Amino acid sequence: DRVVLAYSGGLDTSVAIPYLAEKMDAEVIAVAVDLGQGGENMETIQKRAIDCGAAESVVVDAKEEFAADFCVPALLANALYMDRYPLVSSLSRPLIVKHLVTAARQFGGTVVSHGCTGKGNDQVRFEAGLAALAPDLQVIAPARDFAWTRDKAIEYAEAKGLPIETSKKNPFSIDQNLWGRAVETGFLEDIWNGPTEEVYAYTSDPARPRDPDEVVISFARGVPVALDGRPLTPYAVIDELNRRAGAHGVGRIDMVEDRLVGIKSREVYEAPGAIALITAHMELESVTVERDLARFKRGVDQRWSELVYDGLWFSPLKDALDALIADAQKHVNGEIRMTLHGGRATVTGRRSDDSLYDFSLATYDTGDAFDQSLAKGFVQLFSLPAKIAAARDTRKD
Ligand code: ARG
Ligand code: SIN
Repeated sequence: DRVVLAYSGGLDTSVAIPYLAEKMDAEVIAVAVDLGQGGENMETIQKRAIDCGAAESVVVDAKEEFAADFCVPALLANALYMDRYPLVSSLSRPLIVKHLVTAARQFGGTVVSHGCTGKGNDQVRFEAGLAALAPDLQVIAPARDFAWTRDKAIEYAEAKGLPIETSKKNPFSIDQNLWGRAVETGFLEDIWNGPTEEVYAYTSDPARPRDPDEVVISFARGVPVALDGRPLTPYAVIDELNRRAGAHGVGRIDMVEDRLVGIKSREVYEAPGAIALITAHMELESVTVERDLARFKRGVDQRWSELVYDGLWFSPLKDALDALIADAQKHVNGEIRMTLHGGRATVTGRRSDDSLYDFSLATYDTGDAFDQSLAKGFVQLFSLPAKIAAARDTRKD
């Protein structure tokens, strides 16, 4: 048998290589997907898998694909789970699954393996994605199915002399990519404990004095296409905003979150680029999307976020909502100016050829074109049902 392993280069998935090979009497194909997580060089990670005993070690550069096909759709949906979390890990799993399936087909894999525990969302996202894309593949999750703990992994790595640092004790479970960074466990499990500065890596302390940064983001059909007039790919836009908004501490989130498995869990996130972009995109929608469509879309956006959080990226409802969201972007063209400062991305200006903002209708100064005499009858008819109901209730008292 050949097992295709979602490989991160970290302790747990490195230990999984010889363990799976032994336990399942199989060859392990390690697949590391570059989603703009930064940190270690991908070649180092590729070599480490071989050193741990992998038969094949594949590195996939999926940075632009992740940005264009996963982060951009999330932006179009203004996706914030529980109104706060921009779906960082939730977006990456379906893309990792896609590349695991490609590798399984290429190398004749029949089993797929991932490092998730049985308590989290990520197992659901991996396996729901596999169920949709490659239901013929089996799944094995050592941490869950063989009850692997971190201590056990360290012990095993030392006994086997695996070329990985086991001494560097990171107390946190971290997952990061271009769209942001998730930190959990350690002292954060006490929800009264505040996050310390060491928790953060994408953002600087927003309280640190610094001159504000001003940025102009251009959108075409809701997709960010330029910064300060410079045309950029979605990847480059997000990457630059991560640095610029991150320098001002934009996008720090500390929350207690409802996992799909029913647990409430403490999560600290930082997503400077994502939060700046969602703020700008929502503002441009306010200017360019008609009222009823905008109101309806807010509910669609929330449902989209829940589906993706729950691991249903590849599902009929998600596809249908994508179609509505895409249609709603037809006029989301234009520019948003924002100031990045003190932990906030604040919109200071908007302009669009597709704007629905009509100065002559909105103004209270001379030039007012709004016929106020129409409002009187409108208000009377609009309030008629409530008036009739109130009269009935008075009669009954
Ligand atoms: N709770 C977040 C989510 O469900 C973050 C998960 C982070 N994953 C990890 N393996 N540390 O999207
Ligand atoms: C895990 O438990 O494997 C990580 C956290 C999550 O999936 O939510």
